[in-house]
Amino acid sequence: MRTIGITGTGYYLPSKVVTNKDLEKTIDTTDEWIFSKVGVKERRIASSQEATSDLALYAAQNAIRDAGIHAEDIDLIVLATSSPDMIQPPTASIVQGKLGAYNAAAFDVGAVCAGFVYAISVGYSMMVAEPSYKHILVIGAETYSRIMDWKDRSTCVFFGDGAGACILSEVSESKGIMTKYLMTEGQGASVIQFLAGGSRYPATHETLDKNMHRFQMEGKAVWDFATRVMPFAVKKVLKDAGLSIDDIDWIFPHQANINIILKCFKDLGVPMEKTYTTIAQYANTSGASVIITLAEAATKGLLKKGDKIVLVGFGGGLSYGAILLEW
Ligand SMILES: CC(C)(COP(=O)(O)OP(=O)(O)OC[C@H]1O[C@@H](n2cnc3c(N)ncnc32)[C@H](O)[C@@H]1OP(=O)(O)O)[C@@H](O)C(=O)NCCC(=O)NCCS
Repeated sequence: MRTIGITGTGYYLPSKVVTNKDLEKTIDTTDEWIFSKVGVKERRIASSQEATSDLALYAAQNAIRDAGIHAEDIDLIVLATSSPDMIQPPTASIVQGKLGAYNAAAFDVGAVCAGFVYAISVGYSMMVAEPSYKHILVIGAETYSRIMDWKDRSTCVFFGDGAGACILSEVSESKGIMTKYLMTEGQGASVIQFLAGGSRYPATHETLDKNMHRFQMEGKAVWDFATRVMPFAVKKVLKDAGLSIDDIDWIFPHQANINIILKCFKDLGVPMEKTYTTIAQYANTSGASVIITLAEAATKGLLKKGDKIVLVGFGGGLSYGAILLEW
């Protein structure tokens, strides 16, 4: 079987910064509440000229450059998003066209905040199954600012916009992607939702207005789910690789809430030095957060060749998963 690893990373954040102090002026909240309960100080918001596909494009261009390849070298684009440009076509198709990746098939993966971990798992499996594939572009890209109800303080303070990308290729100097684990608890599917055109739910204009264009989240249920499944997924990929938690150099979890990360690291017995977080500056960028964080850590030169890294995602679906790799 081929050894597949990450050979390039990139990310992109829109330039507009919205701080907690800015939000204090428009909703009944405080910087203190948001920072202590979630760990966010500020978030980036896409301009009216930037769609999810644009953020994805810029992140992809950076990853392609980092890998030292060209857009035409890409065989497949797998893009994780739960805030696509449109319901159809897939955002991946729009990115393929803008990028000029004319030799690539392209499709979206929908697993909400676990999106990137799902997308890289799919990309890895496709690399293994298709020996002719040389390079796969995996992207996580979101513009949650467009699906938020900016009057709902219980949701809007959590999220921000951004994109990250990586290139998967055959590697010889490391073990690359070693193990992966994906799981869904569909009985909790209504815990995080944003209705689209195919729902049975909106029967009247009233329910349409109330529910259609409004991201909804049961915060406490998400907390219970996330703090249960995140440590489980980490332990699962380690066990499958015959490794222990002490063998791990880095864990990059979904940047949902700093308190979720602190609790899970405590439960796993892992010091916070073994992670790098971006939630304070970029907030929760859903399916993009894991790859934005990994790419920023890589750009800062924090990752060494041979480091054992776990990426772990969880969120709407309720979906979760982890991937273990050697850098
Ligand atoms: C939502 C969450 C922060 C609540 O934490 P908590 O410690 O249980 O919160 P508390 O009970 O102390 O606070 C809730 C109160 O804060 C209020 N509140 C909610 N948002 C607020 C905000 N932005 N500013 C000020 N107050 C807010 C609520 O209305 C509630 O008020 P009430 O008690 O008068 O009804 C926590 O459950 C959580 O982090 N869940 C995970 C959510 C998440 O990560 N989502 C990302 C999706 S992957």
